[in-house]
Amino acid sequence: MARKKSYYLLLWFFLFLMCFKMFMSATTTDSINASHPMRDGSTLVSEGGNFELGFFTPGNSDKRYLGIWYKKIPVQTVVWVANRNAPLVSSSVASLRVTDLSVLELVNGTGGVVWAANSSGSVRNPVAKLLDSGNLVIKNEDENDDFTPASFLWQSFDHPCDIQLPGMKLGKDVSTGLDRYLTSWTSSDDPSPGSYTYRLDYRGYPQPVLMKSRVEQYRNGPWNGVGFSGNPNLKPNPIFAFHFVMNAKEIYYTYELLNKSVLSHRLLNPYGTMQRLVWSEYAQGWVMYLTAQSDNCDTYALCGKFGSCNIADSPECSCLKGFEPKSPNDWNAGDWSDGCMRKTALSCNKGDGFLKYTNVKLPDTQYSWYNTSMTLAECKAKCMLNCSCVAYATLDVRAGGSGCLIWIDILIDLKIYAQNGQDLFVRVDASELEKGKTRTWILACSVILGASLLVGSVILYWKRRFSRKGKVRGAYNSDELELPLFDISVIAQATNNFSNCNKLGEGGFGPVYKGKLEDGQEIAVKRLSKESRQGHEEFKNEVICIAKLQHRNLVKLLGCCIGAEESMLIYEYMSNKSLDLFIFDDMRSESLGWNVRYQIIKGIARGILYLHQDSRLRIVHRDLKASNILLDAEMNPKISDFGMARSFDGNDCEAKTCRVVGTYGYMSPEYAIDGLFSLKSDVFSFGVLVLEIVSGKRNRGFTHPDHWHNLLGHAWRLFKEGRSLELVDITTGSSCNASQILRAIHIALLCVQQSPDERPGMPSVVVMLDSDGDLPQPNEPGFYTGRDLGEQYSVSSKSESYCSNFMSVTIVSGR
Ligand SMILES: *[C@@H]1O[C@H](CO)[C@@H](O)[C@H](O)[C@H]1NC(C)=O
Ligand SMILES: *[C@@H]1O[C@H](CO)[C@@H](O)[C@H](O)[C@H]1NC(C)=O
Ligand SMILES: *[C@@H]1O[C@H](CO)[C@@H](O)[C@H](O)[C@H]1NC(C)=O
Ligand SMILES: *[C@@H]1O[C@H](CO)[C@@H](O)[C@H](O)[C@H]1NC(C)=O
Repeated sequence: MARKKSYYLLLWFFLFLMCFKMFMSATTTDSINASHPMRDGSTLVSEGGNFELGFFTPGNSDKRYLGIWYKKIPVQTVVWVANRNAPLVSSSVASLRVTDLSVLELVNGTGGVVWAANSSGSVRNPVAKLLDSGNLVIKNEDENDDFTPASFLWQSFDHPCDIQLPGMKLGKDVSTGLDRYLTSWTSSDDPSPGSYTYRLDYRGYPQPVLMKSRVEQYRNGPWNGVGFSGNPNLKPNPIFAFHFVMNAKEIYYTYELLNKSVLSHRLLNPYGTMQRLVWSEYAQGWVMYLTAQSDNCDTYALCGKFGSCNIADSPECSCLKGFEPKSPNDWNAGDWSDGCMRKTALSCNKGDGFLKYTNVKLPDTQYSWYNTSMTLAECKAKCMLNCSCVAYATLDVRAGGSGCLIWIDILIDLKIYAQNGQDLFVRVDASELEKGKTRTWILACSVILGASLLVGSVILYWKRRFSRKGKVRGAYNSDELELPLFDISVIAQATNNFSNCNKLGEGGFGPVYKGKLEDGQEIAVKRLSKESRQGHEEFKNEVICIAKLQHRNLVKLLGCCIGAEESMLIYEYMSNKSLDLFIFDDMRSESLGWNVRYQIIKGIARGILYLHQDSRLRIVHRDLKASNILLDAEMNPKISDFGMARSFDGNDCEAKTCRVVGTYGYMSPEYAIDGLFSLKSDVFSFGVLVLEIVSGKRNRGFTHPDHWHNLLGHAWRLFKEGRSLELVDITTGSSCNASQILRAIHIALLCVQQSPDERPGMPSVVVMLDSDGDLPQPNEPGFYTGRDLGEQYSVSSKSESYCSNFMSVTIVSGR
């Protein structure tokens, strides 16, 4: 009797185990067919083990999706989602099955079809398989065994989400009308279609465009046989090869990996940036190989019709030759959207001519016509014959050039590069051509005249220097910078002869005084005395950097004063001095309510964004901290102190010193330890600043009775425990807006993440601060445990590596 009982017990136990295994453990299969559906919990792995198909829940979501992700890497990276429009509720067990009716069906726990893949072909015993390329394909089982594209009833590569994998085609199958394009996720937690799409525009000569809803944001430009006209720096490389195919059957763009051990894909992220990412074994994360949008000039139609954009110019927009601004007032105020118009109307047949532009990103080809077999001479003739033709260019630049591209009526979104661009011939009236010629003569004359003047003044300058036994080491000419030169006697008078009462404090390389000019303007004077030798480079750097920058969130340099004994910088005076005096002061912080704090945070973010992206120099500040944020009478934040700033573009701001400089507590780990700095090190400092503004506590010197973490670590602990509001400075309490505060803390934690690649760029930060969309989950911050970690590193010992690293950083984060 007892034996029988235990026998039953064992049987039950066994049955239970079977069920448990079926429901709970992740089993893998290699195909799905009519008798083998795939349940939530099991997965389908590709033959080579590169990809896996299964059910997943993204980030903080509580919804469940069917998707494909990389199998071999630890960071879950979903490359395709089936039911992005129809999520499953996580509690019910779903399954994926193949049927003769619609080849693939996703059924929820109650048997309802949530999503289906249909095929127009004749379906008999379909079988689904995941290929090692990440393509989920379905074919009839009774046909031959090989999975070739011709036999596919359906494939996931025909229905892209936000990622273009190698081998995936982006574009159109002319015969079926199928158009494949990318649509961003709504947020990193929500795969439902976001507002951005990246697709081919088939009007005129086809080209890829990035759109937000129906508005164009960015164009790659037309394919020129080698690459896209708007990506001249993307050259043939050992990682991948790319192809643009255009024939009677198909028009598409695709690329392939040349080295199969590299993992790489193109992603349209929820913020509307097109990125090419490569998996880094070393960093154990995705690193950016390049972004499509490289600078402000890539903003679609920034300079309007018949305008051209050159990021090296200030302002970056100008009218094409023979054209003038349509709305001069708007144009001069920096709103170029109205574009330009002809100074002289075309006379059409009576001797119009063409002006040649070199190094161009070809204008929008939706207004174009093309012929692949014409020569450039035939192209010119063709353009000449039709009065609507406004420009022409070679279609294919390979082998001396072939084909013809003609623009009808409109030239828009034209960009000028420093090198590697294409030639464009723009039609102008004969009279404009004549002006052009005389202008060249005038130009030539003035260049010669200018050169002789320059030589003269240089000789004079040197003479004066030697006669004064000049002490100013940095040899620079303030005239070049269009910076007003103040006389030392004027400054002395304005500052009461540099009296102690007028002293505001000590800056990075000398005392700062308050002054008042005769016209009543209040100024701040930064004085560099002859004793402070090491400050010369920083001083020079600051003059050169800041003289070229103008933004409402940057402190304005009014002029300088260069004397034999000492040099001075003259700034606008900020009546509320610096941010640290407010947030770290018990009394004063009370006057700083949450709204003001949030405005300050946003102002700082916009200032950094300008430095990083919109200014002509593309500058990394490298020393962002509370004491370098000045406040004007209305509490508008202004970033100051550009002594450490470096430009990513030219040599303008490059100093000869090779030192890791900055302030501990604000320095990112990769910068403090390896001397690697990039735009993302400023993002880190910004994150620290935000936490300081929210908490009213300094990151460095922060102490807590319960743990040894610094402010970052403290914020991270509270965030993980859902207690972020406890971080808030009690004095902000009265005017508190909890959701905004939580958002600021969340964004700050994204900015201080350990890995620079995970930190958002400033464009994203500004967008996140201004919107209320979902935010990605931050990972662990850098430097959050040992509060003294940053201080263990000797500042000078890293001098060698820093210069070379700077170069490599430039390349990676450049284009
Ligand atoms: C696919 O087939 C199912 C069932 O026949 C149908 O309900 C659905 O609308 C079809 N979907 C498409 C995109 O054609
Ligand atoms: C392919 O890439 C791997 C990893 O980056 C590298 O180690 C290997 O040398 C590369 N192979 C070739 C042929 O370039
Ligand atoms: C393209 O140009 C060639 C040579 O001029 C001509 O023979 C051909 O008909 C043109 N094709 C089209 C579509 O206009
Ligand atoms: C000029 O070209 C446009 C666009 O192809 C066309 O619509 C127009 O008829 C042409 N005009 C002449 C006079 O050929």
